[in-house]
Amino acid sequence: MIQPGTAWSRFPASFFTTVLPGLFSHGSFPTISQKTRMKNGLPMCSNLPWAALRPTNGISKPRMTQSAQEMKTMEIKKVKLIYFSPTGTTRQVLKSIAEGINAGDVEHINLTLPQGAQPPSLFSSDELAVIGAPVYGGRLPVDAIHRFKQLKANKTPAILIVLYGNREFEDALLELQNLASALGFHPVAGGAFIGEHSFATKDVPIANGRPDSRDIQKAKDFGAKVKDKITALQSLNAQMDLDIPGRFPYEGGARSMSVAPVTKEDPCTVCGTCASVCPTAAISINASVTTTIERCIRCCACIKSCPTGARLWEDDMMKKIAHWLNENCRARKEPQLFGVDA
Ligand SMILES: Cc1cc2nc3c(=O)[nH]c(=O)nc-3n(C[C@H](O)[C@H](O)[C@H](O)COP(=O)(O)O)c2cc1C
Ligand code: SF4
Ligand code: SF4
Repeated sequence: MIQPGTAWSRFPASFFTTVLPGLFSHGSFPTISQKTRMKNGLPMCSNLPWAALRPTNGISKPRMTQSAQEMKTMEIKKVKLIYFSPTGTTRQVLKSIAEGINAGDVEHINLTLPQGAQPPSLFSSDELAVIGAPVYGGRLPVDAIHRFKQLKANKTPAILIVLYGNREFEDALLELQNLASALGFHPVAGGAFIGEHSFATKDVPIANGRPDSRDIQKAKDFGAKVKDKITALQSLNAQMDLDIPGRFPYEGGARSMSVAPVTKEDPCTVCGTCASVCPTAAISINASVTTTIERCIRCCACIKSCPTGARLWEDDMMKKIAHWLNENCRARKEPQLFGVDA
């Protein structure tokens, strides 16, 4: 806000709300709409990124007073993509969001594998985290929760993303929001995107091919909007109400089934790819492929990555579930975004 007694207080309020924004209305500087500012509790003059005040056309730069310096907007120095993504759709959407943010420095913290990346001990407030996971039974996968719990943040702004297979995302995004906040992140926006269902095959399609080019464009646009929102902020002190749907206490969760895909001996070349992508180290390779059923979380990474089609479901219940989803989840759902204007 404009402090009395500062250089800015000499200007009438209308200068900030009408004249100055007009000077920069030709798109050279990102601005945030009045609606977004009101929704997110931003001051009405905060659509002026500090850079917009650089001197142009002979208008000299006003001397910054102490309180004006405090009005500096936020800067994103680095984007960190943090994800659990057995079949890769979450990773794909996070990458597209990062493209939209257009930050030079993007780091992947892939927590999918048991021996995956070591999360950094502390995230700082000039980084932007994009945290993503798939939806399992309307909730976050238990293994994703365990791995995310190793993260520690220091008011780091975060975009929260869940990917679901065109059925529903239920409580998963709310669960991610609460988890991220408890770990010290500051959620600034959220999104539920659609990815090809893990149980889908060519013959029993469920949202096959998603995220498609429309989803990818939405993810990029979303990244750009969140960047505008963050760079217009002066601080991350107040929690933002993102209106993320869900119930607490959460309901659902992936059912425990004690099943795992099988390996057909003939087409299997014992290449080891399935073992290398399994998030729970359920597969071991010797002369043939062995699966420890109790460790399997039914993520289908081994099936989708097998180059010869040797991994598949033989379990009747898994086949029934896939057919049910195929018949009942055909109507295309669209990504839902929270914390930005649609
Ligand atoms: C065990 C399990 C449970 C799932 N439950 C849901 C669900 O409740 N709703 C839904 O729409 N999709 C569900 N899916 C589909 C995944 O959320 C979806 O395919 C997602 O895109 C996978 O993300 P990934 O590619 O990052 O692994 C489930 C998948 C698995 C493996
Ligand atoms: S990825 Fe397929 S072919 Fe390779 S070892 Fe596994 S089951 Fe066999
Ligand atoms: S064995 Fe189970 S947990 Fe491992 S990759 Fe295959 S489906 Fe996923």
